[in-house]
Amino acid sequence: MTTFTINGKPTTVGLPGEIPLLWVIREHLKLTGTKYGCGISQCGACTVLVDGSALRSCVRPLSSVEGAGIITIEGLHPEGQHPLQKSWVTHQVPQCGYCQSGAILQAADLLNNNPNPSDGDIVKAMNANLCRCMTYSRMKDAIKAAAKEMPRHKGGFSKSGGEAKDTEETGSFTARSSGAGGRVRFAYETVGKDIPKDTYGQLHDRT
Ligand code: FES
Ligand code: FES
Repeated sequence: MTTFTINGKPTTVGLPGEIPLLWVIREHLKLTGTKYGCGISQCGACTVLVDGSALRSCVRPLSSVEGAGIITIEGLHPEGQHPLQKSWVTHQVPQCGYCQSGAILQAADLLNNNPNPSDGDIVKAMNANLCRCMTYSRMKDAIKAAAKEMPRHKGGFSKSGGEAKDTEETGSFTARSSGAGGRVRFAYETVGKDIPKDTYGQLHDRT
């Protein structure tokens, strides 16, 4: 048995400790906003926050998160209103959307540790999150805009992954389920609501 908190929800799973966290999140807990890309810690599609730090869930064994607080894209904000999610919409960052959940959580880690990142800081932090649709410049603009909003943001995520609560210091989160199926699902999982189809991708249907 492995016990942890995910998106504010205490969770115990009886799976082998060596199973990758990504499979637990997607296949067992059905939180499919977290994506499988490479499986070898090279792309960032599987990025989640573990105790407030961005980690690649494809190479993290389940046993390593005993007692940890995990946040996936579904738990970053209950209504998809985290400044990063809102900024992602404003700047129309997603194309196909496949990489975007991981990218947003990587950016959340960045802003958690560096509230006012320079362009260089952003590039360095996001460098290992690969986007085959080449949305990098829009990601950078979105992160810079979100950084300006963070001081006024009362939601967000708790480093501990503990109980959801409103507080300006670490923010809050609650679990929510994923949204619609099909192509728009990626958009929903990324920003917490459907966005116009003409601003969204064509490459993937569903995963
Ligand atoms: S799927 Fe984990 S880094 Fe690519
Ligand atoms: S892979 Fe990043 S938006 Fe398509």
